[in-house]
Amino acid sequence: MNKKELEQTLVLIKPDALKNSLIGYVLSQLSEVHSGLRFAGAKIVQVNRMLADQHYAEHRGKVFFPALIDYLIGLAHYPNDPWKRRVIAFVFQGPGAIVKIRAIAGPTNPDEAREKSPGCIRALGTIVQLKDASGNVIGERMDNLIHASSTKTEAEREIKLWFKPNDIPPLMRAYPTEVNKEYYYFNDKKLSLSHEPGSVCLLAPGDYVWKSDLEALRLIYKGRPSPCNIETVAAKYLINEERETV
Ligand code: GTP
Ligand code: MG
Repeated sequence: MNKKELEQTLVLIKPDALKNSLIGYVLSQLSEVHSGLRFAGAKIVQVNRMLADQHYAEHRGKVFFPALIDYLIGLAHYPNDPWKRRVIAFVFQGPGAIVKIRAIAGPTNPDEAREKSPGCIRALGTIVQLKDASGNVIGERMDNLIHASSTKTEAEREIKLWFKPNDIPPLMRAYPTEVNKEYYYFNDKKLSLSHEPGSVCLLAPGDYVWKSDLEALRLIYKGRPSPCNIETVAAKYLINEERETV
């Protein structure tokens, strides 16, 4: 497969799309017939705060950040039904994948999407007013149904955050992998090579890993500066984990 064919992008079908039964519509808009792209990966994820925080790291500190996290983890749409809090994550692959899916998704703001790009997916989104206990409007949330990676760099970061190499068929993997040779455990934001009470085994010898994750883990373990933090690497291994440390 040539390099153009290997271009990948991350798509998240967010909780508002699930709640409004729009999954079929969204997938039909993104289908190979419409987009010329192929599925390379898919998983249903109960998003924890750590994953949501890593995913939207660029927006930390912005006024809409807390509401954005509550939206992605499903709390906003399913406050009383934790088991319904899900996101469906996809990797799409093919020439121009990033730009094509961003165009089908449309502008970030659903009102702008309806005005400027009728027929796009986000034209079916909603702007939700956020109110304090007294009913005063204190902000807004943009429920825009899907996430789509915005650049090649972001796509790589996001795909590696949500997917392990083995979630993607070998011939469709776009980034270098390596076979891990150590045990790596995670507990309370710390990395260790041996099991401690409450720790979760992230990786065992023989596991296929993104090469960049393994490089980061080695640096983090040695206490050296790393291009990403331990949560960035650990988040995908804790997807759908039930244990305390998540
Ligand atoms: P994603 O595909 O979800 O990343 O959206 P985007 O790339 O089109 O936009 P961006 O990454 O800038 O914002 C991420 C998410 O934050 C959006 O999907 C919105 O839900 C929310 N958001 C972005 N900008 C604003 C804003 O100005 N106000 C509010 N309330 N929410 C925003
Ligand atoms: Mg974005």
